Amino acid sequence: MLKRLKKKKKSKLLAFTLTSSLLLSGLTFDIASAQSQNSSTVQQNPTTTLQTTAPYLTDAASIDNVIQAMTLEEKAKFVVGVGMPGFGGMPPFEVTGAVGGTFGVPRLGIPELRFADGPAGLRIRPTRPGQTQTYYATAFPIATSLASTWDPATAEAVGKAQGNEVKEYGVDMLLAPALNIHRNPLNGRNFEYYSEDPLISGKIAAAMVNGVQSNGVGATIKHFAANNQETNRNSIDTIVSERALREIYLKGFEIAVKESHPWSVMSSYNKLNGTYTSQNADLLTTVLRKDWGYTGFVMTDWFGGDNPVEQMKAGNDMIMPGASSQSDLIKAAAESGNLDEKVLDRNIKNILQIVIQTPEFKKYQNSDKPDLAAHAQTARKAAAEGMVLLKNDNMPLPISKDQKVTLFGNTQIETVKGGTGSGDVNAAYTTSIADGLKSAGYQLNQNEFQEYKTYIDGLRSQEEYKIKPSPWGEDFGKLIPAIPEKPLADNEIAAASKESDIGIIVIGRNLGEGADRKVVKGDYLLSDAEEDMITKVSEEYHKQGKKVAVILNIGGPIEVASWRNKVDSILLAWQPGQEAGYAVADVISGKVNPSGKLPATFPVKYSDVASANSFPGTPVRNPTQVVYNEDIYVGYRYNTTFNVKPAYEFGYGLSYTSFKLSHVNISEGKKFKDKLKVSAMVENTGKLPGREVVQVYVSAPDGKLAKPAVELKAFGKTRDLKPHQRELLQFDLNAKDLASFDEEKNAWVLEKGTYTVKVGASSEDIKGTATFTVDHDMVVEKVNEALAPKVDFEPLTK
Ligand code: BGC
Repeated sequence: MLKRLKKKKKSKLLAFTLTSSLLLSGLTFDIASAQSQNSSTVQQNPTTTLQTTAPYLTDAASIDNVIQAMTLEEKAKFVVGVGMPGFGGMPPFEVTGAVGGTFGVPRLGIPELRFADGPAGLRIRPTRPGQTQTYYATAFPIATSLASTWDPATAEAVGKAQGNEVKEYGVDMLLAPALNIHRNPLNGRNFEYYSEDPLISGKIAAAMVNGVQSNGVGATIKHFAANNQETNRNSIDTIVSERALREIYLKGFEIAVKESHPWSVMSSYNKLNGTYTSQNADLLTTVLRKDWGYTGFVMTDWFGGDNPVEQMKAGNDMIMPGASSQSDLIKAAAESGNLDEKVLDRNIKNILQIVIQTPEFKKYQNSDKPDLAAHAQTARKAAAEGMVLLKNDNMPLPISKDQKVTLFGNTQIETVKGGTGSGDVNAAYTTSIADGLKSAGYQLNQNEFQEYKTYIDGLRSQEEYKIKPSPWGEDFGKLIPAIPEKPLADNEIAAASKESDIGIIVIGRNLGEGADRKVVKGDYLLSDAEEDMITKVSEEYHKQGKKVAVILNIGGPIEVASWRNKVDSILLAWQPGQEAGYAVADVISGKVNPSGKLPATFPVKYSDVASANSFPGTPVRNPTQVVYNEDIYVGYRYNTTFNVKPAYEFGYGLSYTSFKLSHVNISEGKKFKDKLKVSAMVENTGKLPGREVVQVYVSAPDGKLAKPAVELKAFGKTRDLKPHQRELLQFDLNAKDLASFDEEKNAWVLEKGTYTVKVGASSEDIKGTATFTVDHDMVVEKVNEALAPKVDFEPLTK
C-alpha cells in the first residue's frame, strides 16, 4: 500500500525537459523525435473528474469497457511511458533504478507499472536516500555464459531467481532476456546475448522467460530485431534478406514467443530494411502477431524510433521511456484522422491484457527481501556450469588442494562479474578469483599476490584510475578505468615458478553497451603486457617441468590462436557474475567437472569471420547502412560450409572425463512424413563424473535452396554420469524444425532428398550419423510476405 501511495505522489512530481540527446559515455539515446517536437515534457496524470459510474479494470472481461471509457487524452498518455526516472531532473521511482514506468488511470483502476533491466540480474539502485536497508540484486553469469551451459534447466533456474527479485523488490517486468544473434564477435553487447545460433538462443531465452514469469512477473524479450552492433545503433539501416531474417535473426524470437509467451517484446533501435523496427508493421504485426500468434505487448527500446504515430500504427503498443510530446502527437493524429482511434484501442488492449497479470494490479505486497543467499548459490552453480574448458593438455586441471598456485594477472583481484551499461547489475560484491581459490583451500603464492595487491591499490589511489560513479548515472554501477597489466620482472617469474607447482594467468576484459569492440591490442587482441606475461610465465614454468593454465574472464571471444600453444590449459570462465571466484574454484578444483560448450565460434583471426568485411557498415567512418551479405552463413554455418577452420569451433568444450557417443539412430521417420526421432547413447568412459552435451546437426540436401553444411537442430545434456554410466538421449524433430525458408513461396519448405543427421560433441566433431529421406518437396508452413529488403545486394552463396 505504501508503495502505491508513494508512487501516486511521485507521478505528480514528474516534470523535466529533455533538451538534448543524452550522450553518456558513448551511449546515445536518440531522442531526436522528442527534440523536434519542441515541448517534450514528462507526462502529467491527466486531470480527470471522478466518474463514479466509470467501469473499473477488474479482469480480462472488463478491458473493452475500460477502453471505451478512456478519454482520448488518457489513451494517448497510456501508450507512452512516464519518462526517464532519475534523468534530466525527473526524480527516480520509489524502486530507484527502475528505468521505466507506465501511466496509471486511477479512476478506471489502471495501475502504474514499473520496469527494470536485466539480463544478468535485476538492475536497480542498491541504496536509497535516508534508508539503511539495501536493495542489492544478484549478479548472475552473463547471457553468453548461460548459453554455454546448453542447459535450459539452468537458464530456467536463473530466470526463476531473477524473477523472484523482480517481484520482491516491487518491479512488474524485467527488461530481459536479450537474444540478438552474435553476428560478429565485436558487437559490444554480445555478452548480453546468447549465441551465434538461433536454436540455442531461442531455447535458452524461452527457459529464462519461463523461469522469470513463473513468479507472476513479466519478461521482455529484446531487441527485436537484427540489432547486432552498437555502432550507430540508433540510426543504422540493417539490410537483411528475408531468408536470413526468418532462419537466423527472427528464429530465436519465434521460438521464445511460442515456447514461453513473454509478456512483452522490446523493439530495437535500428532500422530494418529501411524502416525503424519500432515503426515496422511487417515486423511487429505481420510477423510477430499474424505469423507467430503473439499476444503480449510491444514496447520500444529507450528513445527508439522517430515517429510515435507510425509506432502506434505498426503495432508498437508502448513508447518508452516516454515524453508528453509523443502523447500530444498521438492525440493530434487521432483528432485529425491520421491515426484511427481503433489502432490506439488495439494497442491499449494488448497492454491491459498484461496489466491485469502484474503484481501491481494484484496489489502484491513486496517484501524487499528476496533470498539473496539462495540466489547466490543458483548464480554460482550456473556460472560453473557455463565454463568452457578450451584446452587441458595432459590434464593440469583439476588442481589438487595440496598444490601451490601462483596467480598472475590483474584480473585475479579485479575479477569481472559482467559487462557494462544497462546489462550491469548492482550486486553487493564480486568474489575475485584470488579470493575464490583461497576460500576453496588453495595455498596461493602470497608474495606474488601481495605484489599485485600493492600495484593495484597504488594505481587505484591515483586520480586517473580511481573507481568513479558511472557516467550513465548512479543506477549503472561504477566506472572502473582499466589499469595497465602489472609488469612482471624476469626474476619475479623465475622465483614464482620455483615456489609454486602451477602458474595460473588470468586475462580479463570489461566492456559493454554503447560501443563495439575493436581488433586492437588490449581488446580483441592481447595487449603487449599480456602477451609477455603468457610467454614468460610459460617459459619459466616449463623450464621447471611445471604447467601453466590461463583463465579467460571475458565477455566475448578474443584472439587465442597466436598464444594458445604456449600454455597447457585454458579455462573460459566468461564473466561469471558475483560468485565468479567461487565458481572458478569449483571448476579448477574439480568439484564441478566443466561441461560448458561454446555458443559462439572463436576464429583463428578476425578476418575469418563471415561479416568481417561488412561490420559495422558503410561509410566506414560513420556507418549509416550495414548489409548482411554473409546472409544465412553466420558463425559455424560459415565455417563449416566454406571450410574456414576456427580456433575453437561452435559447440566445442572439454571435460575432465571422457565420453563415448554411440548408437546414433533414427528410430522413426527414416522415410520422413511429419516427424523424426533421433537417439544417441552417451557413456562416461573416463574416471570422473560429468555431464556431456549431445548436439544434433543436420546436413540438408541442396535443392532450389542452398543449405549450410550443418545446422544445429536439437541438443540435450546428460545428467551427471558416473564413470561407466550411460544415458540414452532422444530428440523429436518435426518438419518445421528441419525446414528452410523459401522467399519466393513465403513459406517454410522441406526439400526432397537425403538428409544426414550428424550427432556430435561439437560442430566439427561428429561421432555418428544416420540418414533419412524426404521423397517430395513439402510446404511446411505458409507465412505472410514481409520485410523484403528494398536495396539490391549480393548475398554470399556457396
Ligand atoms: C537498452 C535496453 C534497456 C533500456 C533501458 C537501452 O539503452 O538498449 O536494453 O532495456 O536502455 O535501460
